[in-house]
Amino acid sequence: MKTIPDFQKRKAAGEAITMVTCYDAATAKILNGTSVDSILVGDSCAMVVHGFDSTVHATVDMLAMHTEAVRRGAPDKVIVADMPFLSYRKGLIESTESAARLMRAGANAVKIERCRGNLELIQSLVEAGVPVMGHLGLTPQAVNEFGGFKVQAKTDKAAETLVREAKELELAGCFSIVLECVPAEVAKRATEALAIPTIGIGCGPDTSGQVLVINDLLGMDSDFHPKFARRYANLSVVIADSVEAYSDDVRSGSFPAKGEYTRLRREQTAI
Ligand code: KIV
Repeated sequence: MKTIPDFQKRKAAGEAITMVTCYDAATAKILNGTSVDSILVGDSCAMVVHGFDSTVHATVDMLAMHTEAVRRGAPDKVIVADMPFLSYRKGLIESTESAARLMRAGANAVKIERCRGNLELIQSLVEAGVPVMGHLGLTPQAVNEFGGFKVQAKTDKAAETLVREAKELELAGCFSIVLECVPAEVAKRATEALAIPTIGIGCGPDTSGQVLVINDLLGMDSDFHPKFARRYANLSVVIADSVEAYSDDVRSGSFPAKGEYTRLRREQTAI
């Protein structure tokens, strides 16, 4: 996938879209060499990189800095940047300026959580040439309203609201919608009701694609393992074991060894 319109083509062709989050240039460089379709510079960086307990702490400055780093590492990937908590509720002018900062930082699109109250801004950004990804279901910026990170849209009424809002986001011009932690049946209904693709996380198999937080996928946090996040590696163990091995080698004197440093030749004099 090379461009935002490719999202639509993938859904039309029935081909799954793959997306992972990323926050730094080193990891982005690795992703740039993979077949993953798209990178999300998620406001989850407030939690997994900066150690906060929710994404409420993410700021435009934070997201712009991470987006710049990811773009430097992944020049060839389609990058979506999250508009952080309340940054899109500051009136059209200031909210548009926040979106502009993320686009200038290297994003190809921005993502905005929830529907109600956001449609005018979404329409205005889309008209101005800024692709917008929607986000419904468990929208983590509203964790205080939900009383925790809980599965959403479990009742008929809530499911109906979600499908209606998904259609409203599509009508406003969103090119895709993230569905997070809603029952698989609800995700399927929403996906079937839309022409644009849905990207699921914790929503089962019937969305147009999947997104995972890269730290979860790589097993960076041994204490955090939500059931929807399949672990493809156990990097927390790999990192801890590597640092222990290094520390043992330093203490035993086996690091650094010959070949891992420079000695002056006999005829040279030390400065
Ligand atoms: O910020 C994020 O990582 C996200 C994904 C969970 C979709 O919004």
